[in-house]
Amino acid sequence: MSIKLSVPLVLTLLASLSAVSAQQCNATSHCPSSAPCCSEFGFCGTGSFCLGGCNPLASTSLTSCSPEPVCQNANHTFTDFSRILSNATYFDGNATKYDWVVNQGTILNSTAGELAMTLTQDNGGTRLSSTRYVHYGTITARLKTGRWGGVVTAFITMSDIKDEIDWEFPGNQTTEGQSNYFWQGVVPTPTDGKTHGNLTDTFSNFHDYTIDWQEDTLTWLIDGNAVRTLKRSDVTGSDGISRYPSTPSRIELSLWPAGINSSGQGTIEWAGGLINWDDPDYKAAGHFYALVESVTVSCADAKTNSANATSYVYGTNSSAFSPSVAVSNESTVTNAAVGALAASKAVWGALVGGGALALGAVLL
Ligand SMILES: *[C@@H]1O[C@H](CO)[C@@H](O)[C@H](O)[C@H]1NC(C)=O
Ligand SMILES: *[C@@H]1O[C@H](CO)[C@@H](O)[C@H](O)[C@H]1NC(C)=O
Ligand SMILES: *[C@@H]1O[C@H](CO)[C@@H](O)[C@H](O)[C@H]1NC(C)=O
Ligand SMILES: *[C@@H]1O[C@H](CO)[C@@H](O)[C@H](O)[C@H]1NC(C)=O
Ligand SMILES: *[C@@H]1O[C@H](CO)[C@@H](O)[C@H](O)[C@H]1NC(C)=O
Ligand SMILES: *[C@@H]1O[C@H](CO)[C@@H](O)[C@H](O)[C@H]1NC(C)=O
Ligand SMILES: *[C@@H]1O[C@H](CO)[C@@H](O)[C@H](O)[C@H]1NC(C)=O
Ligand SMILES: *[C@@H]1O[C@H](CO)[C@@H](O)[C@H](O)[C@H]1NC(C)=O
Ligand SMILES: *[C@@H]1O[C@H](CO)[C@@H](O)[C@H](O)[C@H]1NC(C)=O
Ligand SMILES: *[C@@H]1O[C@H](CO)[C@@H](O)[C@H](O)[C@H]1NC(C)=O
Ligand SMILES: *[C@@H]1O[C@H](CO)[C@@H](O)[C@H](O)[C@H]1NC(C)=O
Repeated sequence: MSIKLSVPLVLTLLASLSAVSAQQCNATSHCPSSAPCCSEFGFCGTGSFCLGGCNPLASTSLTSCSPEPVCQNANHTFTDFSRILSNATYFDGNATKYDWVVNQGTILNSTAGELAMTLTQDNGGTRLSSTRYVHYGTITARLKTGRWGGVVTAFITMSDIKDEIDWEFPGNQTTEGQSNYFWQGVVPTPTDGKTHGNLTDTFSNFHDYTIDWQEDTLTWLIDGNAVRTLKRSDVTGSDGISRYPSTPSRIELSLWPAGINSSGQGTIEWAGGLINWDDPDYKAAGHFYALVESVTVSCADAKTNSANATSYVYGTNSSAFSPSVAVSNESTVTNAAVGALAASKAVWGALVGGGALALGAVLL
């Protein structure tokens, strides 16, 4: 379908896609079967609530969330945005159609063909998520970070039960990157964030930041050089539980406002202070920005998965401490209306058209 739909029609279609319940959910208070999926933001619903970020441990059952699109080797570049869905709300789970969804904010096309993530006082920052998951693999983002205190650039992997691996860049320290990881939403030891420095200015220069996440070893690299290694055995306790990221994860790229009044004091300090909305960079461009040139993905399971593999599913034998994950041939696509997708593409054209000019002005 390539008909343009009016905005009211889009909203009607959207409402019909996802039954929303105001009920909140977490690992101790699961969703009811009438609204079985616990979204990334902790609310119960159906439809899009069951897609990326849906937490199996907080949903009605471990199999309530939609199957997660399986990893696929790729070299993503951003000279055009045809593989990016401008609003994640309209995603129907079809990873053949889109590589990325925008969860929040506005992306712009730079004059050199990079993807620019913007941060304004009003947009709360920009976040993109990959539509496919990685269940171990090597991921490299070539990017230029944002800059100035309070402005944080991030390239991370995030699973639906909040296993997380980070590269983060507080914007007042543009010669360093920080590595970190979480297991089911917690940092196993508070001192696990590490700083890796001596880089040429990360705002002005592209660097390759790599997360090499294998079943037993996790390595962070900068420009191909390993700067940190974590072994699964290092974080396996005497209780036998490995506090090691182990579940399929989406790749997330973001530029976010850590230095705002509503953040915790520790977060503000970590980020290098409150954002100065009178900063000349901000005034000139109308936004802060970070640029992504490419993201390459090499899946650890690409060779061993059957050609029919389409998805990852959480197993019925999961426990909260060690959820089991299986590769399946179940479809990842929900019953979402195709019309809504066509309509959101129409909306996209307008966003890019207006925005590219604004960014071009500052880059030139
Ligand atoms: C889980 O959700 C329930 C119901 O909304 C709430 O009462 C409880 O405090 C939540 N627990 C946690 C740990 O957030
Ligand atoms: C990605 O690029 C590398 C290096 O050019 C190439 O070897 C590889 O085949 C590419 N992968 C895909 C999936 O296109
Ligand atoms: C982005 O810029 C490149 C180079 O100018 C151009 O070829 C491409 O069509 C643009 N993409 C979008 C989405 O505007
Ligand atoms: C997914 O998208 C692809 C590419 O646009 C399309 O060929 C395919 O029919 C879609 N699959 C479903 C189940 O909608
Ligand atoms: C996505 O669409 C929903 C519904 O129309 C809207 O509430 C939300 O603000 C949009 N998000 C973005 C990032 O534009
Ligand atoms: C920092 O990089 C410079 C230039 O590459 C090198 O000469 C110097 O030894 C490095 N310093 C440290 C502390 O690694
Ligand atoms: C913090 O609050 C002050 C006072 O309301 C305001 O002037 C300032 O812009 C805020 N700063 C940020 C970064 O939100
Ligand atoms: C950045 O902010 C942190 C935390 O406030 C501070 O410790 C550090 O000295 C600042 N770095 C620079 C280069 O300004
Ligand atoms: C893979 O797909 C083919 C063709 O649809 C089917 O014959 C075969 O049984 C499938 N194999 C597996 C392991 O699912
Ligand atoms: C379920 O998990 C337990 C604990 O990991 C294991 O001992 C058992 O063999 C598993 N059962 C099945 C059917 O996979
Ligand atoms: C999916 O897998 C099942 C077994 O798990 C198999 O029977 C079926 O043929 C497969 N379907 C496709 C389309 O590959």
